[in-house]
Amino acid sequence: MEDFEEKKYDVLVVGAGGAGIRAAIAASDEGATVCLVSKSLLGKAHTVMAEGGAAAALGNADERDNWKAHFRDTIRGGKHLNNWKMAKIHAEQAPERIMELEKWGAVFDRTKDGKINQRNFGGHRFPRLAHVGDRTGLEIIRTVQDKVIHQENVDILMECTVSKILTEKNQAIGALAYYRNNGKLVSIQAKSIIIATGGIGKAYRVTSNSWEYTGDGHALAYLAGADLQDMEFIQFHPTGMVWPPSVKGTLVTEGVRGEGGILLNNKNERFMFNYIPEAFAAETAKNEEEANDWLKGVKGAMRPPELLTRDVVAKAIMKEVKEGRGSPHGGAFLDIANRQTSDYIKKKLPSMYHQFKELGDLDITTEPMEVGPTTHYMMGGIRVDAETGASTLKGMYAAGEAAAGLHGANRLGGNSLSDLLVFGKIAGTSAAIFALNNKERAINRDELNMAINETLESFGNDKKENPYHLHEELQDIMENHAGIVRDEKDLTKGIEKLKELDKRVDNAKAFGNRAYNPSWHLCLDLKNMIITSLAVTEAAKERRESRGGHTRLDYPDYDSELGMLNIIIRKSIDGINVIKSDKKTMPDDLDEFVHKEAI
Ligand code: FUM
Repeated sequence: MEDFEEKKYDVLVVGAGGAGIRAAIAASDEGATVCLVSKSLLGKAHTVMAEGGAAAALGNADERDNWKAHFRDTIRGGKHLNNWKMAKIHAEQAPERIMELEKWGAVFDRTKDGKINQRNFGGHRFPRLAHVGDRTGLEIIRTVQDKVIHQENVDILMECTVSKILTEKNQAIGALAYYRNNGKLVSIQAKSIIIATGGIGKAYRVTSNSWEYTGDGHALAYLAGADLQDMEFIQFHPTGMVWPPSVKGTLVTEGVRGEGGILLNNKNERFMFNYIPEAFAAETAKNEEEANDWLKGVKGAMRPPELLTRDVVAKAIMKEVKEGRGSPHGGAFLDIANRQTSDYIKKKLPSMYHQFKELGDLDITTEPMEVGPTTHYMMGGIRVDAETGASTLKGMYAAGEAAAGLHGANRLGGNSLSDLLVFGKIAGTSAAIFALNNKERAINRDELNMAINETLESFGNDKKENPYHLHEELQDIMENHAGIVRDEKDLTKGIEKLKELDKRVDNAKAFGNRAYNPSWHLCLDLKNMIITSLAVTEAAKERRESRGGHTRLDYPDYDSELGMLNIIIRKSIDGINVIKSDKKTMPDDLDEFVHKEAI
């Protein structure tokens, strides 16, 4: 048998962004031994791309805020498809998780009276985002990273990637992984496993995600037998850089709009006034005058239309471009220069200032930016229980972006950071309790050998396809067939193309040997991206309506029946099974509160 390391723990955490690290801390607090696997170096995670803040109803910047208002905004922003229990737990527990971070050393921006400051963000009724300039995700990951390295019984495997979840009698019992630097394999036996691998952005060409985000956790869970849910809902963040081409897709934080930035078309029109949906009309400024009250800080003023939810803003920019009113490089102008002083911009948006200076040779304190939609976040994911984070596969848990439910059809900015803190802790605690109350199960040697062969198969002499070319083809398919707008014909064609590509991915070739070999890593990542892309397109085809991040040109409206259903993706012997499942309905009092026109 292959020479490899063998390890054994109570809890295995796959993924070391904010959710994975928070889960590892919680599991270790329960007394479990923990293995935390990080695909890249610890601290380098998409968590840092949630720049503008973490949403939590602390009520520091507006005392009217409370968990119920946060809950209402999350459900309305998610177009009512959210798992209401998750939304309630999230809104209730987010403030506690933020205060805990502060105790652990996070240094948030302050109000004049010394409290954690909170800024406005899209879809949030009140200024709710605890922030550190425009580097909030970075501060959060630094804080939990510092905490986790001092925890008892946590081993961290860096630059290590899980290639297979091992099961026994429909229970997750371990994993096979490889070290990216030397190519060595490692088997990790664990009594419970938490998937916290983040999103799937790299299946698209224009994305804010970096190379790690290839849908690993979604594919690992699916192949092991867990259900995926709501995979059709992908968030296209309205503001990514569109120029220069080498950095297209890089995030431009919503914090720019939260600090007063406005969107303009090539006629210098503030076009978002033309795109206010009825559902948000009661809380959105209809003209410059009303919007200026908000900028002046008038209490109770209506929010500007630039702070509508991301699905609305992304589609509006797309429409302006399509109708010939776009900026020179196919986006819209985002202007903060004429809204705030240069000193204020540099203080509150330091990363944006440097990003545009370094990458685009543009001074955002004097000129508008050019921005357009970029693939940012996966609302769908592994189906979980709200109270424990347990997936539908025994012994497997999920948290953060890899899990589904909290955000419904569209996520509000800032809810991802509080999501990963709240549900990272919940999943870590539950997985540890499960592990400490269950016997270990030995890894079956035959299954392990099979997993090793699969992991190494792209080195076979019979393999021919160049993985880099296959990746380009995959990104083209997803951009063209499962982008911001979709229809039946395009989706059907996309599925066909993906199935053909899937066969070719089986023939993908790793060049050279196992040490420092990105072509081998990509061969493995491609399999995950194909599975998740098929899940996205199949679910998108099945949802014949438009809702949140999923827009069907052939079904432009909500469908009230589909609004009561989640779409589940399950592995079967014939391939992907697409199942409609009843969404849990919320209690009447909460439902009534959510439907109130304005609060
Ligand atoms: O725009 C941003 O700062 C992103 C935040 C988020 O995705 O939550």
